[in-house]
Amino acid sequence: MTVASGLLHTARKLTEDATRVVVLSGAGMSAESGVPTFRDAQTGLWERYSPEQLATEEAFRAEPDLVWSWYLWRARMVRACEPNAGHRALGVAQHRCAERGGSLQVVTQNVDDLHERGGAEVLAHLHGSLFEYRCADCDAPAEFDPGTAEAGHMGTEEDLEKMLRTPPPICSQCAHGTLRPGIVWFGEMLPMDAFSSAQTAVEQCDLALVVGTSGLVQPAASLPYRALGSGAAVVEINPEATPLSDDATVTLRGTAAELLPELLLDSSGALS
Ligand code: APR
Repeated sequence: MTVASGLLHTARKLTEDATRVVVLSGAGMSAESGVPTFRDAQTGLWERYSPEQLATEEAFRAEPDLVWSWYLWRARMVRACEPNAGHRALGVAQHRCAERGGSLQVVTQNVDDLHERGGAEVLAHLHGSLFEYRCADCDAPAEFDPGTAEAGHMGTEEDLEKMLRTPPPICSQCAHGTLRPGIVWFGEMLPMDAFSSAQTAVEQCDLALVVGTSGLVQPAASLPYRALGSGAAVVEINPEATPLSDDATVTLRGTAAELLPELLLDSSGALS
């Protein structure tokens, strides 16, 4: 897919002129790493075990083994994926911005760790992390290693079936509750400190780059509008139109792995 060069030029100018950049990323950011998005991939496994169905406290209380196994499988699947060129471009750009006395802060709805593995520090994981755990009863944080995918055997229905009835471990602190993933499930509050640092970041930025989110889930979807309301420019990167597209300062139709390096780095890989 090619992006109109005029739009890319305008977006590059906005990026070059900005001192404080905030990146707001969603599932599309990790799509080219092989992590399925929520609303684009409603087939196969993701249809049978959709996040909407399993990502609730009620589902966990009703079927703890099923929900625990689903997250264990997703954590292993993510471990088998690598950061893409978009994640890596953000890692480089974050370092270069800091060297120039500016900042590039990453706020993500993603529960994977691909930003971090791509070299970028994350200011806020708004929807939690696949790699953090706590007790479902006493709330104590817990260490747990979800393990790794058997090479070449991840992502099939059979793999999930094999592990579907893995019970969650018992909490070592209270000795009666079970562990749960540190994910913000539907109906739960976002972690207060993560959301308030995200709000402050967008209120103080010159540019918000909104990458790979459908903008359908609140309150994360309000953040680009808060940036616009504070006078910042908003550049959207997404192959599809979203509710934000008409309001963004510039919308670039294309993917994260294609466009972030083009936007942020010059042909030698340095910050443009
Ligand atoms: N590059 C950029 N964007 C992409 C790419 C790509 N390679 N591939 C797909 N997209 C876009 C899609 O067009 C879509 O707009 O990414 C978006 C993905 O949307 P969702 O699947 O709805 O993901 P997201 O917006 O992150 O969902 C928000 O919903 O289920 C919950 O908690 C979950 O954090 C998630 C939240």
